Amino acid sequence: MTALDAVSIITAKRDGGELSDAQIDWVVDGFTTGKVADEQMSALAMAILLRGMSRRETARWTAAMIASGSRMDFTGLSRPTVDKHSTGGVGDKITLPLAPLVAACGAAVPQLSGRGLGHTGGTLDKLESIPGWRAEVPIARMREILADPAIGAVVCAAGADLAPADKRLYALRDVTGTVESIPLIASSIMSKKIAEGTASLVLDVKVGAGAFMKSIDDARELATAMVELGADSGVRTVALLTAMDTPLGDTAGNALEVAESVRVLAGGGPADIVELTVALAREMVRLAGLDVDPAEVLADGRAMDHWRAMVRAQGGDPDAALPVARHTETVRAPHTGVLTRLDAMGVGLAAWRLGAGRARQGDPVQFGAGVEMHAKPGDSVTAGQPLLTLHTDTPEAFPGALAALGSAFDIGVADQWSAPPLLLGRIAR
Ligand code: URA
Repeated sequence: MTALDAVSIITAKRDGGELSDAQIDWVVDGFTTGKVADEQMSALAMAILLRGMSRRETARWTAAMIASGSRMDFTGLSRPTVDKHSTGGVGDKITLPLAPLVAACGAAVPQLSGRGLGHTGGTLDKLESIPGWRAEVPIARMREILADPAIGAVVCAAGADLAPADKRLYALRDVTGTVESIPLIASSIMSKKIAEGTASLVLDVKVGAGAFMKSIDDARELATAMVELGADSGVRTVALLTAMDTPLGDTAGNALEVAESVRVLAGGGPADIVELTVALAREMVRLAGLDVDPAEVLADGRAMDHWRAMVRAQGGDPDAALPVARHTETVRAPHTGVLTRLDAMGVGLAAWRLGAGRARQGDPVQFGAGVEMHAKPGDSVTAGQPLLTLHTDTPEAFPGALAALGSAFDIGVADQWSAPPLLLGRIAR
């Protein structure tokens, strides 16, 4: 029998071994209770990043993360539960129109979301820019909102007891260069989604310059691992692979993205946001067993009604003016041509430096800060026309943001550009 102590587990993985179920249960439990130190878990995370985990190890690791806390249960609801999770990107405000849209189609959408860290924005930060809106919703109230056919969607913070080992491990990975491990990302995301108690789940796995996964092969591997983890735990799971080379929509920043989402719910908004919202909604509605076309529900205003009810249910005022940053700066096109590239990472970094994101967990964000994009790849631009407007309350942030944008776009000629697809693949089991 293999010894159950942290050093032998770390060295076994460091040397390319496969951890037993008992070793995984022991080390995750020890980390949760404090028997395994942070530096030991960090070393193990690095060994896993370098050596990988088998499908069995990943499934056991996920189960151990779930077992570190409690599971939510929505089985008593009369409507089918279905959720969506995005692996994170720039300008990714899709949850905002999507959750009320799917609720308006007849499903219950219990969405536990996170705050942004680094260059990718967080859904809760965006929604908190709505005056009065609160991210903390007690479980009994969640159930009431989900059961209410006029609301049906709740987007809120996960309680402290939902996969707490993952919460601590993610914070360690974030500061030890161990985020980019496919089995660790898959188990981190899926442990929270399985513990959340949704019956079905649609994953939006981002691929490209502004995403964790830079190549389609890595994205496919991550998506497959998550779909398998979901299926093995009885959660019907489908993944879409979607492009994240260019920011989604026309804005990156909290209140800016809320305003853009409201434009989508009102029947307008950028074409890429509408396309992705409807594509994800179709998958969610299908998994939930409903026979409704989300495009019609978006177009006829029912999704907007659910948005307004959903905002009110969490204390927000859907009619209140959104925060606006005190200072702006414009980036103009240096010459005439066609915008052939607008880099998601550059725009995300600029928005973050302007104050839309946080450098450390717990830092405040500026609700009005961010980047507005006046042209997207494929658009013709003339010399001197505004390309980007930068928003912040702290004008000393402008030089850092402008530096991030310095090489973030190219202007060329029309035949140097052809429209890349947004939807790159679908993984189901
Ligand atoms: N999001 C998560 O929740 N976990 C990861 O490991 C990466 C992204």
